[in-house]
Amino acid sequence: MQLSLAPMEGIAGYAFRRVHAEFFGALDRYYTPFISPLPKVGTPFSKRNSRELDPANNQGLDVVPQLLANDADRFVWAAGLLADMGYKEVNLNLGCPSGTVVAKEKGSGLLRNPDRLEAFLANVCERSPLPVSVKTRVGIANDDEYGELFALFCRCGIAELIVHPRVQKDFYSGAPRQELYGKTLELAPFPVAYNGDIFSLGDFNTLVAAYPQTRHVMLGRGIVANPALARMIRGGEGLTREELERFHNELYQAYTDDMGGNAVFRMKEWWGYAKCAFADPSSVHRIMRKTRQADEYEAAARFGAAAARGVARAALADRAIRPVFHID
Ligand SMILES: Cc1cc2nc3c(=O)[nH]c(=O)nc-3n(C[C@H](O)[C@H](O)[C@H](O)COP(=O)(O)O)c2cc1C
Repeated sequence: MQLSLAPMEGIAGYAFRRVHAEFFGALDRYYTPFISPLPKVGTPFSKRNSRELDPANNQGLDVVPQLLANDADRFVWAAGLLADMGYKEVNLNLGCPSGTVVAKEKGSGLLRNPDRLEAFLANVCERSPLPVSVKTRVGIANDDEYGELFALFCRCGIAELIVHPRVQKDFYSGAPRQELYGKTLELAPFPVAYNGDIFSLGDFNTLVAAYPQTRHVMLGRGIVANPALARMIRGGEGLTREELERFHNELYQAYTDDMGGNAVFRMKEWWGYAKCAFADPSSVHRIMRKTRQADEYEAAARFGAAAARGVARAALADRAIRPVFHID
């Protein structure tokens, strides 16, 4: 069984990948948050994207860069730069549901016009120096759209299809329609991966029991909320409070080294998911939400860690957090 980390803009960049792998063991694969905009043909990646892609920042990890694009020439050019850097595969984002992205006919916006998507995808699959995998939603508004999309994926020569079985209009609400993944697994001439709402060992086991041919599961928010999730899926120990605290401290340090004061904002994004490891996520949210400066943040995070050890009641009795994790 292959376990990979989902691309997550603002969350799962190279610092997260490195620190997570150090503490919890490397996953089989990591997908970068979407790279955009792509460089014009003949020019290099932007400074920011170059840092994300720099092999030195991804040492020892199997990383697949994900591109958000609808221009075939730029895609092929970017794939060439990635091949020169040593990457072995490139992933196309057909899932991003954000209004601004969809309006530009990128991400899941490309699903609106299957003819245009097919022309683009067939073109890049033919010309890209790297195999092209695709991460997709199942439509814009309606599950019925997926039949036509699946048929075109079958014609384009893609390397793998990662299915997040929601439509664009769902954003993250409602349950993923796993049966559409199951059908894909049954019928596809290419390898298939599942993605969506695997938050616990129970969720994982239910998926695999329903679809025993599953060979690749991509984990996103579940791993951010419980960084030991993949280890648990592989039969290892659950998350401990001490581990979470050490992981937090190292992640914060890595972001501080990388971006100085902006580390606080990056960490607040992380807490948006990590709070779910606590018995009372809304208290954690309230505490973290107000922090701006590094010293305020560090005090709040210490409170979070202290509260997790059950010793914060005296200091902040009304907001004490019980040291309980939502783990199987
Ligand atoms: C904060 C955030 C950022 C995301 N960024 C990306 C991205 O850059 N590319 C992408 O394909 N999907 C992105 N996604 C979607 C995830 O990769 C994944 O498909 C989605 O969260 C469902 O999987 P999960 O339930 O395991 O989290 C993002 C999701 C979140 C919550």
